[in-house]
Amino acid sequence: MSEKAIIEIRDLVKIYKGSEEPAINGISLDIYPGEIFGLLGPNGAGKTTTISILCGLFRATKGSVRIAGLDIHSNLNGIKQIIGVVPQDVALYPTLSAWENLTFFGNMYGLKGQHLREKIAEGFSVFGLEKHANKKIADCSGGIKRRINLIAGLLHDPRIIFLDEPTVGIDVQSRVVILDYLKELNKKGTTVIYTSHYMEEAEKLCTRVAIIDRGSVISMGNPRELLADHPEFKDLENIFLHLTGKDLRD
Ligand SMILES: Nc1ncnc2c1ncn2[C@@H]1O[C@H](COP(=O)(O)OP(=O)(O)O)[C@@H](O)[C@H]1O
Ligand SMILES: [Mg+2]
Repeated sequence: MSEKAIIEIRDLVKIYKGSEEPAINGISLDIYPGEIFGLLGPNGAGKTTTISILCGLFRATKGSVRIAGLDIHSNLNGIKQIIGVVPQDVALYPTLSAWENLTFFGNMYGLKGQHLREKIAEGFSVFGLEKHANKKIADCSGGIKRRINLIAGLLHDPRIIFLDEPTVGIDVQSRVVILDYLKELNKKGTTVIYTSHYMEEAEKLCTRVAIIDRGSVISMGNPRELLADHPEFKDLENIFLHLTGKDLRD
């Protein structure tokens, strides 16, 4: 691709304090504007660690990250204005209502007044949540919490969104609504980086995927290219199992 990468990751290493094995072991990746990029791998592969470094939650032990030309260490505040983050674990206040939570997160992004109310109402409408607006988060189902979590990360119309396993452990309806919405946002120009261990989903959704295992990229490309490179396997799932081994992980 001749276009300039919007995310440039170089030789990224993360060794957690007290660990001997690196969680990330020299990852380099370029992600381009308008992609839906999948970071795929089994449990413990290093997906959450990678996403957390890209969002500035954790510092890498070594290596560099640039997002939209800005360095993650020297320009994190600039980066935070253009990225949205949807973490793996739901990060909402259980005793507040859905609407109160979203107002809180909107305020954190500097949104307020009529504009914020419209953004929240739009989120509720897209995700069919109008009747849950005043329910306490603690009383909402897992799928509904996930949808609200997603709205929270997108209120400020970020150019780039990071989602960590947005579809794990939820009902089919929530999953379809979330994936359709990501596709819609992407059509409007948002770059999407998401992690998953669902190969079938990634095969349908992603422009490119990187398969990571034990902190290293072991294969990368668009799903069709990967399938063409491995004609002996009928789908990404089988390539994944072949590359990462069939042993169970923690
Ligand atoms: N806070 C932490 N402290 C120490 N080790 C961690 C921490 N978080 C993750 N790890 C380890 O780093 C590796 C990668 O974990 P993670 O990035 O969560 O993988 P994934 O999201 O792909 O399941 C695993 O071996 C995990 O046990
Ligand atoms: Mg994870």
